[in-house]
Formats: sequence, structure tokens, C-alpha cells
Amino acid sequence: MAELIVITSGKGGVGKTTVAAFLGAKLAERGKKTVVCDLDFGLNNLDIVMGAEKKVVYDLSDALEGRCRANQALTACPNVKNLYLISSVRTVGKSISGQNIKQLFEGLKNNFDYVLFDCPAGLDTGFHRAVSASNSAIVVITPALSSIRDADKVLSVLRSYNMKKIGIVVNMARGDLMITREVLTINEIEELLKTKVIGVIPQDDSILISKNCYIDSSIPCGNAFYKLAKSIVSGRIKYTDPTNKYTGFWGSIKRSLKRKL
Ligand SMILES: Nc1ncnc2c1ncn2[C@@H]1O[C@H](COP(=O)(O)OP(=O)(O)O)[C@@H](O)[C@H]1O
Ligand SMILES: [Mg+2]
Repeated sequence: MAELIVITSGKGGVGKTTVAAFLGAKLAERGKKTVVCDLDFGLNNLDIVMGAEKKVVYDLSDALEGRCRANQALTACPNVKNLYLISSVRTVGKSISGQNIKQLFEGLKNNFDYVLFDCPAGLDTGFHRAVSASNSAIVVITPALSSIRDADKVLSVLRSYNMKKIGIVVNMARGDLMITREVLTINEIEELLKTKVIGVIPQDDSILISKNCYIDSSIPCGNAFYKLAKSIVSGRIKYTDPTNKYTGFWGSIKRSLKRKL
């Protein structure tokens, strides 16, 4: 039976779609059958991030409105075995409720291990639709204070839902700024938000230029997604401390080089 996880945030542009797609790919790589479903009806782009936009035949509204069967709305992700996309609705889709989505996945959940919902930013209808279809939540933040404050608001709303698990993923982490305390450290983020950090993804251009959602685990950000997937599957949280790279003599050289770039 699948775990239904909403990937949410307060602020836009923090990496929800990125985390949904790249985490999905690493769960799939571990042999877990995974669907990533785009519930951002306004600014849908998950199909592009997954490199599957040309392969989509049916979308979520086709499945919900009976134009196709639920499993026909699944698009197999090119290059990543076990990974599927359900694309966002092509029309506005305001009438679609979280309950409708939950029912659709009732029919699919025995065939999958994980369903990841890519949620829109903010706390409007789209947020409640995605959250009410899920049973666990990942809140994506960046080290920017504005993102952390918005996440605090999201977390307080999430706590009013009956979530099995809620965890934070710190995306676009900058170890060089954490070590000098110019941005909050992981411990400070956990204390402030009173929620466990379950993954830390470094800021990395490989994500920006990637043509699909798979990055090899030999590359630091690929490894960060690998560890996040492993933590979710095993229930034992493990991530690389982003400040590790910047400790000691060579670390301080790396830090000054990074700051000059
Ligand atoms: N760890 C990262 N390092 C570098 N760029 C990133 C990272 N995570 C996301 N991005 C980039 O940031 C932008 C916004 O990410 P996106 O996932 O679309 O955010 P959201 O879905 O929250 O609006 C995208 O261009 C994406 O490639
Ligand atoms: Mg998005």
C-alpha cells in the first residue's frame, strides 16, 4: 500500500517540484514503484522537470472525469525504471477536491510504494487539495529567512491535518554560509520550526541544467537525494552536513573561492 506524501512549502521557487521529481527518481532507483503527481494546476511544470512532457497522453483530469482509466493517466518516466508521472490538469480544475484525488489513488495504491504530490505554493485551495489527499508531508525550505517563516505557517496548518509524518527538506543549502552563521544552521532550523530535518540538498547547477530528474549518486546533489530516499524508506534519517566541505584549512580556501565567484 502506497505512502502518499505531499511535497509542500510556504514560499514559491524553493524547489518543491525539484524535490518531488528527483526524490521520486531515487525512490524508483531503490526499486520502489513511485508516482509523482502534479497538483500545481496553475504553474504546472513537473512533466518538463521529469523530461516526460512529450510522452503525456492523459492527465489527472482525464482520469478524474472518466475519459481514461486511472492507470492510463500514468506516464512512464523516460530513463528511470519504476518512476511514473501523472501530469497536471490542462484546464483550471477548481472543482477537483482532495477527496476526488484520494479516491483515484485508492485504485492505484496497491500497485505503488510511494505517491509524491507536487503542491502549489501558498495556503490556498490548491494547498488544501494536495494536503487532504496525502497522509505524510515534506516541507521544502531554503536557508532564506522568508522561506523559513512561510514554512512555519505551513507547518502549523499541516499539524491540524491528521498526518502520519512531517519532515523538512532544506534545499539549496549553502554550507559556506552556514559555517559562518550568515544563514541558519540545520540545528537552528530544527529548533525554530520544531520539526526534524530529513534531508539536505546542496545548491548545485547540475539540478538547474538537468534534462530529466535523474542525477547520479556520485555527484553531491544526486547523493543528497539518494540519502533522502534511503531515510524515507528505512525511517533512519541520514544526510551530509553541508558545512563538512568548508571546515579546516582547505575548507576555508574553498569558502573564499566560492564567495569570490
Ligand atoms: N538544489 C538546487 N540547486 C540549484 N538549483 C535548484 C535547486 N533546487 C531547485 N533549483 C532550481 O530552482 C528553480 C525553482 O525550483 P522549483 O522546483 O521549480 O521550485 P517550486 O516548485 O518550489 O516553485 C528551478 O529552476 C530549479 O531548477
Ligand atoms: Mg513547482
